[in-house]
Amino acid sequence: MKLIKTKAELVDALADLRGHIALVPTMGALHDGHLSLVAAARADISSADDMVVASIFVNPLQFAQLGDCDDYRNYPRTLDADAQLLESAGVDIIFAPDVAEMYPQGTPEVWVRSGEMGSQLEGASRPGHFDGVATVVAKLFSLIRPNRAYFGQKDAQQLAVIKRMVHDLDLRVDIRAVPIIRGADGLAESSRNQHLGATDRQNALALSATLAALRDRRIDLEQARVELSNADAVDLDYLEVVSPETLQPITWPPTAPALALGAITVGGTRLIDNMDI
Ligand code: PAJ
Repeated sequence: MKLIKTKAELVDALADLRGHIALVPTMGALHDGHLSLVAAARADISSADDMVVASIFVNPLQFAQLGDCDDYRNYPRTLDADAQLLESAGVDIIFAPDVAEMYPQGTPEVWVRSGEMGSQLEGASRPGHFDGVATVVAKLFSLIRPNRAYFGQKDAQQLAVIKRMVHDLDLRVDIRAVPIIRGADGLAESSRNQHLGATDRQNALALSATLAALRDRRIDLEQARVELSNADAVDLDYLEVVSPETLQPITWPPTAPALALGAITVGGTRLIDNMDI
């Protein structure tokens, strides 16, 4: 396994490659959700010449005030532990640039714009977030030139925006979606879960439980919103049922495959989750 920190070394390491490249983009602080993306990338390997590349980069562009915020400054950075996990998981190359390497002239002038898809749902509480995500992912695609890239269904809106970017910009990358990894209690794995105490964690289960009730048609969307807003210590941000491709709202009950997504705050921690319904 090679740990690479500069674009020049990266281009060098990939220069003579004859096989396919599978990319797993992350911001580090790795957990089982990230490792399932690596496992999916490994499982799709078809030749000894293929390579799995993981990137670790906490991208300031996708945080509030372009990273001039506590959320960015306090984001867990655990490169040594992450590198060990990725090595055991079978990653061939880790690309872990610092901010000056990725953005040598500071904030870029030219960005990828995520449009209306990126300004609703998560984007409504985090303006500019998906422009920052799309821009850094486009840069990673240019630098690494992967044949396939793996994204978690956990961040369903991110996945939809990236798929749309690949389509709209004719980027030649095959985007593969990986199912959500959950704890035994049903809570979706997230680096933010470490901020939850035992009681918070218990209260947070209202989100996955409500999504499951919607999926199983035990309640309708209005009831689901009421139940979730009334759940103990839960602050509901949104609960919506949308088209998985366009993210446009779908009226209840859905008659085609739909995606239910929600965001809540519990004990000061913002959590998102979604289910196919
Ligand atoms: P990060 O939050 O580190 O997540 C990296 C990838 O892991 C994303 O594709 C995310 O959907 C996936 N993931 C996280 N938790 C998961 C879970 N419980 N089950 C399955 N997959 C999960 O998402 C980002 O980083 C950044 O926005 C990035 C795409 C790297 C661009 O900066």
